[in-house]
Amino acid sequence: MNSLYQSSIKSLPLLGHGKVRDNYAVGDDKILIVTTDRLSAFDVVMNEPIPGKGMVLNQMTDFWFSKLGHIVPSHLTGVAPESVVAADEVDQVKGRAVVAKRLKPIMVEAVVRGYIIGSGWKDYQDTGSVCGIKLPAGLKQAEKLPQPIFTPAAKADLGEHDENISFEEMEKRIGAELAAKMRDVAIKLYTEASEYAATRGIIIADTKFEFGLDENGVMHLMDEVLTADSSRFWPADSYATGISPPSFDKQFVRDYLETLDWGKTAPAPALPADVINKTQAKYFEAIERLTGEKLKA
Ligand SMILES: Nc1ncnc2c1ncn2[C@@H]1O[C@H](COP(=O)(O)OP(=O)(O)O)[C@@H](O)[C@H]1O
Ligand SMILES: [Mg+2]
Repeated sequence: MNSLYQSSIKSLPLLGHGKVRDNYAVGDDKILIVTTDRLSAFDVVMNEPIPGKGMVLNQMTDFWFSKLGHIVPSHLTGVAPESVVAADEVDQVKGRAVVAKRLKPIMVEAVVRGYIIGSGWKDYQDTGSVCGIKLPAGLKQAEKLPQPIFTPAAKADLGEHDENISFEEMEKRIGAELAAKMRDVAIKLYTEASEYAATRGIIIADTKFEFGLDENGVMHLMDEVLTADSSRFWPADSYATGISPPSFDKQFVRDYLETLDWGKTAPAPALPADVINKTQAKYFEAIERLTGEKLKA
């Protein structure tokens, strides 16, 4: 398994390192997005790679782009990543990169929740609502909501946490028309994806989409889509209410970090090999269960 913690593509101008992805300019209208094996937990990037994780995320996203492409266009250009880098850089992009349209990111993340869990569960216990949306009384932790809800979050500046905002605040920031369109598309994407995932024995409890506008103002789905990093996937066979069901993601890492006396700010503590291996196995299992195919390495 070729592992990549940070890319170093010298043949293209670096636009920046995100927590997980490295972006490079390809001409002035495209970007090369390399999904590395970095893992962030509590918004802090760990020091060790999870070998192959970036490939899993990249291939999961590709899978969903093609499945959901009839709902909204994606940022994909179809240009092969191998064709835009130097020969000795091909190893860094193989199986883990895309050449995307360079879009103007909409600075609101589209969060859709089908189940009440995590920060939504905390919010509900305190207020009976999630991000200002009133919910029926008496819901149990991890219970399925009567219908999926849209709870936008303002995209944070580098190193900051995203901040939940009301739909009204979203309308103020990006305009009522675009806000409604984003909400409707996000709910459709979530609904169709969850119906498919159910046939594979996976519950998508919640997820986050990012959208951007092209030069004509057309909205595109971008970034990563319905991955174990941007979503909570629960194996249907171990789902139960009244608990936080086990999920296909960084749970081992989070559980391990919770045992430490660590303030959840950088620098991250070292991850034991056992935690890294179990996390890697979860990501691999997730893509296999979801797509029915093993990771293409
Ligand atoms: N097609 C695109 N055009 C412009 N920006 C994009 C596109 N796709 C993804 N991005 C941005 O690239 C970055 C990806 O890096 P990532 O590691 O996910 O960052 P973050 O730490 O912000 O989550 C994000 O800021 C995302 O919004
Ligand atoms: Mg991201």
